[in-house]
Amino acid sequence: MAIEVFAPAKVNLTLHVTGQRADGYHLLDSVVMFADFGDHLRVTKAAKMSLRVTGPLAHGVPEDARNLCWRAAEAFGEPVAIELDKHLPHAAGIGGGSSDAAAVLRAMEQLFERPFGGNPLELGADIPVCLHATAARMAGIGEDITGLSLPAVHAVLVNPRVDVPTPAVFKALPTKDNPPMGAIPESEYLAWLALQRNDMEAAAAGLAPEIQITLDALAQMPKQCLTRMSGSGATCFALFETRALADHAAQMLATQYPNWWVQSATLT
Ligand code: C5P
Repeated sequence: MAIEVFAPAKVNLTLHVTGQRADGYHLLDSVVMFADFGDHLRVTKAAKMSLRVTGPLAHGVPEDARNLCWRAAEAFGEPVAIELDKHLPHAAGIGGGSSDAAAVLRAMEQLFERPFGGNPLELGADIPVCLHATAARMAGIGEDITGLSLPAVHAVLVNPRVDVPTPAVFKALPTKDNPPMGAIPESEYLAWLALQRNDMEAAAAGLAPEIQITLDALAQMPKQCLTRMSGSGATCFALFETRALADHAAQMLATQYPNWWVQSATLT
């Protein structure tokens, strides 16, 4: 039996860094939503572990234990054959690794008819929210997930094709005790989002100047409501009131910047 699962792109609409623990991990306060665009996986019981990566963004994706999918299956404790159809850039701040790993855990729970017994956080700080896979507020170092009922938003996601290592961005933060988000309002969600922050954005742009170029290009898009970076970068996004506006921006950006990864999406 094979289980097919979808690993949506994860977008941090806000990412406030509110403190640092004694062990070095940072305290976060983040609104996370998931796209109708992502990777597709097929997981089958097997005598030994295997991973095959295909698809438009397969290049450079490891097919062994360096891949978080593989480590998720090992943590579950059963050998499986994983086919990963890769559409999301990895090391890009939109869950290219974490969402795949969470999808493997979901597939294995169905396949083996038992819950994952391990601690998802040990596979990565974004795994708990990626297991949730729909709008949530993420706090703590990533383990504290509260589901949110939010209106769908429309976005264009852009990655200028630079890798930004997360630990380097955390290290470059000038302040680690920034204010949290406060209550999420029941109406005027987009206007409220525009007043929030990604506290990693300036530090990431300091390490990879392409990020500021990306944010400036997004800011030029007609009728965008806000532009921001997701996660520790380098993927940035702009939000729009309609999907048609997001699709239009995606077409414009793909034409202007043929080397960038550009994708419109609806986030829920
Ligand atoms: O858990 P993940 O592999 O995504 O994290 C990569 C690195 O980012 C960690 O090794 C840690 O240095 C840093 N990190 C952090 N605080 C968090 C999450 C990650 O300092 N809440």
